[in-house]
Amino acid sequence: MLKDFKKHCNMTRLSTICSQLVELSNQAFSVNNGNIPKWEEAISSIQKTQPGKLSFEHPYIAIDTKVNIDDLTLSLKQLMPWRKGPYQIGDLQLDSEWRGDMKWDRLKGHLQPLAGKTVLDVGSGNGYFTYLMAMQGAEIAVGIEPFLLFNYQFQAIHTLISQPPKAYVLPLKLEQMPKESSFDSVFSMGVLYHQKDHMLHLQQLKDVLIEGGELILETLIIDQKHGDQITPEDRYARMRNVWCLPSTDTLHIWLEQAGFKNIKLIDVTKTTPEEQRATHWIGDNTQSIKDFLDPNDDNLTIEGLPAPKRAVFICQK
Ligand SMILES: C[S@@+](CC[C@H](N)C(=O)[O-])C[C@H]1O[C@@H](n2cnc3c(N)ncnc32)[C@H](O)[C@@H]1O
Repeated sequence: MLKDFKKHCNMTRLSTICSQLVELSNQAFSVNNGNIPKWEEAISSIQKTQPGKLSFEHPYIAIDTKVNIDDLTLSLKQLMPWRKGPYQIGDLQLDSEWRGDMKWDRLKGHLQPLAGKTVLDVGSGNGYFTYLMAMQGAEIAVGIEPFLLFNYQFQAIHTLISQPPKAYVLPLKLEQMPKESSFDSVFSMGVLYHQKDHMLHLQQLKDVLIEGGELILETLIIDQKHGDQITPEDRYARMRNVWCLPSTDTLHIWLEQAGFKNIKLIDVTKTTPEEQRATHWIGDNTQSIKDFLDPNDDNLTIEGLPAPKRAVFICQK
């Protein structure tokens, strides 16, 4: 996988940073993680399935192949929880916790065309959106995702595709990216609220964009009536590590302060149990959004804070 990435990467504008990205990825994969043998075994058994053609069959990223459903289910379940998707592999529906297609539908009509572009997907999870970006004709779509399991999930899906699109997921954090302005389009979706220093994250996103390049920022927000921003003291909708919930006005100001131009708010949507739900692909802990909300008022989280709402901003460097 990293070999293919390096070869392809070297043929693009990213050529000056490819070796560094591969070296950092190799370091990340060589950590001592007791789950790796289990995940590698799962990938080996998935390799027995005949790879098939990739397409988008709403709402699924679909792979046209014949599968032994029981065997493939068993292997893919070694890689749970499947948060992002959904995927359809032959007759097997891998119904992830999140309906990623719903987020994609909200933003795809607003993007600068991705055809021929260098694209970075920060916090890519298993690469569901990175695939969609590559399927729009990107020259290369690079997902970065520090959580190793999601990298193995990406490999599992990649193994099943006969002619994979130009999509890769590397086990890296944005902070590790070389400070070179190399990407035409940078996506940061569902990542900002996990950052202790939101301005640093916005600055780092700007650093990796070319002049005039486009940032697509999706994050949790609050309605203005709740104030300019909330910093949850403990958990938010049972999530740890949620540091900032700005209003859209506040987020607009943060983007201006970070030096972005042509800032447009293109969508605000409340997260529904249609978009985030427990499926049997998330493992033993089967809680999802309905368990994270106040049972008597779905406008509040279980901690009494405003229920999850997400905004998408698009702007230029
Ligand atoms: C809520 S998920 C969002 C996944 C996907 N982008 C989406 O919109 O559905 C956030 C992901 O960002 C990753 N992440 C958190 N901090 C990051 C950082 N500094 N650099 C890159 N990825 C990060 C997490 O590991 C997690 O998988």
